[in-house]
Amino acid sequence: MGTATPTASERRPTGVARTTLYVVASLTALTAVLAAPFVLTPLPFAPSTPATRARLQALLRRHATARATFVDIGCGDGAVVRDAARLGFGRAVGIERNPLLALYTVFRCRGLPNVSVRCADMFRLAWTGADVVYIYGGERIMAAVAAKAARELRHGAILISNSFGLPTDDAAASDAFQLVLRSPPLRVYQRR
Ligand SMILES: C[S@@+](CC[C@H](N)C(=O)[O-])C[C@H]1O[C@@H](n2cnc3c(N)ncnc32)[C@H](O)[C@@H]1O
Repeated sequence: MGTATPTASERRPTGVARTTLYVVASLTALTAVLAAPFVLTPLPFAPSTPATRARLQALLRRHATARATFVDIGCGDGAVVRDAARLGFGRAVGIERNPLLALYTVFRCRGLPNVSVRCADMFRLAWTGADVVYIYGGERIMAAVAAKAARELRHGAILISNSFGLPTDDAAASDAFQLVLRSPPLRVYQRR
């Protein structure tokens, strides 16, 4: 007795199999879309730890006035921007290249009228007008950050870096900024 060959209709996926296939394909596509901004952004995305945020809040408190502008260049999940806004900065600005994180920051800072979020490359926006700039980026961008900050920040403005300092071997950065405080992993610089 020979084995029965399945007919064409028997070979076609059943309704359940087809639905499963669609669901798996959709989830894969959604994952790819959501992951793309993270893969394409070269810096670490890890937000500041609660302990670092507590230190940062203590530092920010000294500069938070209704006339002062705070800018987080690479604001990630927006936690620091929200802290700055709640501490009393007249303006707290988050710049974030990853659109999903920028959206999340908008959501997280809802109800805070002094917050604005720009989904953009930090190097393509002017930082002029900022009184306090905060950066938690990667070591390899710190020279570019120092150069732009030196060009655009007013004398007396504050630059706070998390984990990665301004390059000490860069004469222009050393001329423009003075390290005024260390509260590891934070460094506070002042524009000369
Ligand atoms: C380490 S996270 C820091 C997040 C937040 N500032 C904090 O301290 O919790 C760095 C963020 O910078 C963003 N980023 C990287 N390059 C950028 C660029 N050129 N312009 C704007 N944002 C950038 C990344 O997407 C990431 O969300």
